[in-house]
Amino acid sequence: MDPRQHDQIAKWERRWIAASGLMSLMFVILIAYSLATEGVNIAQSASRGTPQQLLEQPIFAQPGVRATGPNAYEVSLVGQAFNWTPETVRVPVGAEITFYLTARDVIHGWQVENTNLNVEVIPGEVSRLIATFDDVGRYRVSCNEYCGIGHQNMIGWIEVVPASQLVQAEGGAAEDVAADGTVDGAAVYASNCASCHGASGAGIAGAFPPLAGHVPDLLARDGGRTYLVNALLYGLQGAIVVDGTNYNGVMPAWGNLSDAQIAAVLNHVTTLDGSDDPAFAAEEIAAERGQGRAAADVLALRQQLAIP
Ligand code: CUA
Repeated sequence: MDPRQHDQIAKWERRWIAASGLMSLMFVILIAYSLATEGVNIAQSASRGTPQQLLEQPIFAQPGVRATGPNAYEVSLVGQAFNWTPETVRVPVGAEITFYLTARDVIHGWQVENTNLNVEVIPGEVSRLIATFDDVGRYRVSCNEYCGIGHQNMIGWIEVVPASQLVQAEGGAAEDVAADGTVDGAAVYASNCASCHGASGAGIAGAFPPLAGHVPDLLARDGGRTYLVNALLYGLQGAIVVDGTNYNGVMPAWGNLSDAQIAAVLNHVTTLDGSDDPAFAAEEIAAERGQGRAAADVLALRQQLAIP
């Protein structure tokens, strides 16, 4: 090679190295600047284990808000395709909130919009994050890691309210329970089911089966009632056909809902198309609970219904 040409290459090489070095330096400065101005809030790993072990920890037995001291609260949250449990978390302004987050199925991203709270929520790991909200408001929580076809519907809320407005939920009374103890099936549906099956139960063809019209059809068959209760308690997995469309997905088990909530939501989905109220009662759910069934067993129950 002609030595002059060699110098030429070396010169350009030096320029490129300088340019990339400058770019790296710029990134470091930008990161340092945003840390200094926006503050930093990095989640720490609180515990690890199988997702099942983690969900059996007392803190996740009833996810939600608990007071832990004067102006200190603890919030446990579970992410699963495609919602957050609980969907809405209400905390007082100015309090120290310790969040414990984990996922039931796949990795989700928990991002509280317009804050610096952003955590990767990983099955098999509990992430801990301490935060204080200085402003009253309703903060939207979105999932920022693609987790499946309903990812964009995985929305939650953090309501930051004056401490005087915070109604302490004794014994884990949920939002969908009225003062007289009756459960609002539409509210249970909106919080837990609508992100996949749609607000009106129309589903998404090929991904999530419709419920409006289909649930009454199931109820009309021998064993349909029991099947529906089991699908809620134990989930459903495998290939099914609804109205001539194939589905092959996973419905998570909803056994974490109470018997009354499951009964109410079943009554709600049955009447989506104006059908009569099938009057599911909590006792009927309780009778099927604790049978240790798996999603595959529920698929077998469905196959016995002989749906064309
Ligand atoms: Cu959960 Cu995306």
